Amino acid sequence: MTESTRENAELLVEMKGIRKSFPGVQASDDVALVLRKGEVLALLGENGAGKSTLMNILAGLYRPDSGEIRIRGKLARIASPRDASALGVGMVHQNFMLVDSMTVAENVVLGIPKLPFVPNAARIRREILELSERYNLKVEPEAFVWQLSVGEQQRVEILKLLYRKAEILILDEPTAVLTPQESKELNAVVKLMQAEGKSAVFITHKMDEVMSFSDRVMVLRKGKVVAEKLTRDTDPRDLARLMVGREILFCIDKRPFEPKGLVLELSGVEALNERGLPALRGVDLRLRSGEILGIAGVAGNGQRELAETITGLRPTTAGAISINCVDSTNASPMSVIRRGVGHVPQDRVAVGVVGDMSVSDNLAMKAYRSAPLASGGVLRPKRFLELAKRMIEAFKIATPSPSTRTKFLSGGNIQKTILAREIEACSSLLIAVYPSRGLDIGATEAVRKELVAQRDAGLGVLLVSEDLEELAQVADTIAVMFEGRIMAVMPACDAEAERLGLLMSGAIPAEV
Ligand SMILES: Nc1ncnc2c1ncn2[C@@H]1O[C@H](COP(=O)(O)OP(=O)(O)O)[C@@H](O)[C@H]1O
Ligand SMILES: [Mg+2]
Repeated sequence: MTESTRENAELLVEMKGIRKSFPGVQASDDVALVLRKGEVLALLGENGAGKSTLMNILAGLYRPDSGEIRIRGKLARIASPRDASALGVGMVHQNFMLVDSMTVAENVVLGIPKLPFVPNAARIRREILELSERYNLKVEPEAFVWQLSVGEQQRVEILKLLYRKAEILILDEPTAVLTPQESKELNAVVKLMQAEGKSAVFITHKMDEVMSFSDRVMVLRKGKVVAEKLTRDTDPRDLARLMVGREILFCIDKRPFEPKGLVLELSGVEALNERGLPALRGVDLRLRSGEILGIAGVAGNGQRELAETITGLRPTTAGAISINCVDSTNASPMSVIRRGVGHVPQDRVAVGVVGDMSVSDNLAMKAYRSAPLASGGVLRPKRFLELAKRMIEAFKIATPSPSTRTKFLSGGNIQKTILAREIEACSSLLIAVYPSRGLDIGATEAVRKELVAQRDAGLGVLLVSEDLEELAQVADTIAVMFEGRIMAVMPACDAEAERLGLLMSGAIPAEV
């Protein structure tokens, strides 16, 4: 289908007057949305704008308080994901919903009604392989989900929808967890589905993705539609302003770099990954107080293992680590925390917070061992609440109250909760792994400013990022990682994107 025929194509989805409230927030406020056959609609908005809520309504996970939905012109009653699936609507959620202990194939067919009592495993395997071939979604049907990388799990989620013959695909921030390479692959998959006449709603924060492959873009703010445009009639700056409701700083004012004493030193550090293969190969790094050391590289080149060995979560098999000039090689996580180290981990939803605990308890989780939260071994709940209120205010965490369970916050606000807690508990070294991944521009700006503020306050900050623009804005020194090795270390002011790109992909040899 060409662009102009898509603009007049059949209306597949019409949502009108959709309202949905949660305690304390109007998540959808009289929203109207249409989707045509063969069209990719980008849904843009800051964290908490109501994007997931709106799409969860279309996918049958939430019931709207009012409003109507028509699918192919007919009034639709979507009371469950199964109803949505029967209408050809499928959604890949922000946090995947696969069963870890089951195989890929079992997950793909899970929940399909009218499956024979004894499913034909060979046939299912063949069908999955055919789909994965056709859409270039490489998976191994017999692998267990727990063995898969995030990117692979996402492929399984997409196969699940294709297997159910979904015609309307909803992808909720699908690239937030992907490497740039995986994002490109996903974009290709969406293009392929579009060429077959399928339609997609693509939720994202990334302007370049909106620009490169949506036909139309809708911007939400505080539950309302604030703009709807053809993609070719808009540009990133325009969209950013619409999302946030103000001009966005694309660069950060920074004081000159004045490093002091050494806070972290790694020499010849080696470690293994989950599969027992070398993940760190002789890493040498030095970080001083008042310095932001950016680790550039494509995710999966040892960054996670680097953060984990420093924080005591993964054993070092060779070499030495010292924190504040004290040997910390293979120190326990608790003793690393006592040395004033904060860690914003990569996998925030799984290990960063306890979803069933309140925001205030999550905020206090690290600092609770010491005064003023505890005295003589007794916890002081009033102090918990005071601390939580102060942090919610300082970090602009959007939560109905400090006692709200954390799992009900939007992804970006969960992220801010962790960042606030780690910064609060940290007195010498802050390790931030992809801290702005999945955040909207407003929140990203806030996080970056906070990292710089912490550096100015005298912390050493180890910032792992894939975003060269972020590193250029924030870091004082940049080290490039590739296949577990440090390829080069340079002052950020000397870093050129092209050279970084070559080092990150191993296209030029290591310089150190
Ligand atoms: N299940 C829920 N319970 C309570 N509040 C919720 C729930 N789901 C979403 N919200 C709230 O609704 C608002 C919109 O959230 P969401 O749709 O997830 O935003 P987005 O996807 O744009 O980041 C947020 O304030 C969020 O905290
Ligand atoms: Mg969301």
